[in-house]
Amino acid sequence: MTLRTLLILINIAAVLVIVVIIGAKVLSVRREPTERPASNRTPFYDDDVLEDAHLTKVLRWTLLFSTIVAIVLPLYWLLEPSRQDQEAKGFEDRAVERGAVLYANKNMPAYEGAKSLLCADCHGADGGGGSRSFVLAPDAQGDPKATPVQEVWQVPSLNDIFYRYTEDPTTMVQQVTDIITYGRPGTPMPAWGVAGGGPKNVQSVSDLVAYLRSIQVSPAKARAAADQKIKDYQTLAATSEATAQTNLGDAQKKLDEAQTPEQRAKYQGEIEAAREGIRRSRAYADEVAQMGQGELLFNTQCARCHTKGWSTLDPSNGFVPLPEPAGSGALGPSLRGDSVESQFPGETGKQKQYDWVAVGAEVNKAYGVRGISSGKMPHFGDILSRAQIDAIIEYERNL
Ligand code: HEC
Ligand code: HEC
Repeated sequence: MTLRTLLILINIAAVLVIVVIIGAKVLSVRREPTERPASNRTPFYDDDVLEDAHLTKVLRWTLLFSTIVAIVLPLYWLLEPSRQDQEAKGFEDRAVERGAVLYANKNMPAYEGAKSLLCADCHGADGGGGSRSFVLAPDAQGDPKATPVQEVWQVPSLNDIFYRYTEDPTTMVQQVTDIITYGRPGTPMPAWGVAGGGPKNVQSVSDLVAYLRSIQVSPAKARAAADQKIKDYQTLAATSEATAQTNLGDAQKKLDEAQTPEQRAKYQGEIEAAREGIRRSRAYADEVAQMGQGELLFNTQCARCHTKGWSTLDPSNGFVPLPEPAGSGALGPSLRGDSVESQFPGETGKQKQYDWVAVGAEVNKAYGVRGISSGKMPHFGDILSRAQIDAIIEYERNL
């Protein structure tokens, strides 16, 4: 039994007692309806009793109650700060609990069929990131006659998101809340908040933010994840040809067993795509093997917003369109040509560019020569070292 249920029971008991007393009084009047003399005409104690025995009795009671107040008030004063802290923590804990339910997918203990939004299906059960298959509609390919392409979209990690974005309701900078509310149009990330056309109210979005806050990894792990991303990327490039070979073998087998001309045409197409995948994978493996730190970091940290088509990169699949040239712009602006140089000109510009990438600028504040921060660009000073960011800057200035 918790303190809460105990207090509720005491309250119910007190109400019952009051009801019984009132009931008894009402009934007693009905039972003996004799008239009593009015109180102001009833004689009270005489002076001797009033000023001696009666006064003593009243003063004793006063002493008793004053003592209770004298003990309870300082106790209350002593316990209040920790009670408030506990209440704040309890408030946060309950928000995290509700957020966990919203975040969960079927494989997680917090899952509840009617409430869970399955964030974990895309972002991973631990928030470490994942991937999600996605059908690229003909319009999104820029050609209404194209066939829809099944792609795999790389989904970013969320267990390090507060190292990249600021979330501070007191300064009204709520970058994570905004992303969850409005989603990322043109990507599989939907809008979840009512303001963005999604299903969830402000309370639920704030519960999700509380949950994300509770699953953040340590700074050391967040930095290690940045290195791991580079390793995964290099592995993808190195093993892509083998994947394409497997796809080719599978498609050939399916072609051998094909019955109808449609099936044959389909599998013939898959064979072509796999052959194209083998060619691309070889070229891509060479490309990645030659990349310096700056380019590797750019591709694994920045390209999903600054290179269109980056998130669906899969050199092993000839059906999937290749990404646009590096840094040509997507959610973030193009960084090619002399756009970076003109935003952050000269040697002093390098420090300004560093500040922008490492710390960022407040929403609606200026950066560089003509930039105004929209609050959409994350900052990387907490997960990348000075040397790493300088390497990216060098790479960007030569795009
Ligand atoms: C269908 C897959 C999918 C689901 C479900 C999904 N997301 Fe996402 N989310 C994405 C993708 C893809 C991105 C990256 C979009 C981009 O490339 O800009 C993303 C980005 C984000 C980001 C920004 C991350 C960053 O570093 O840019 C946040 C925060 C986020 N999602 C939270 C959530 C929450 C909370 C839920 C559940 C309510 C959720 N997502 C459900 C696919 C999904
Ligand atoms: C979640 C998406 C996202 C990611 C990831 C991202 N950026 Fe950006 N970036 C933006 C947006 C959006 C802008 C435009 C400024 C704004 O809206 O505040 C921008 C602007 C910039 C600019 C200024 C360009 C100009 O001409 O004004 C530079 C430089 C830049 N980003 C570098 C980087 C680097 C380096 C990384 C990786 C370490 C990176 N960005 C990762 C979204 C992103």
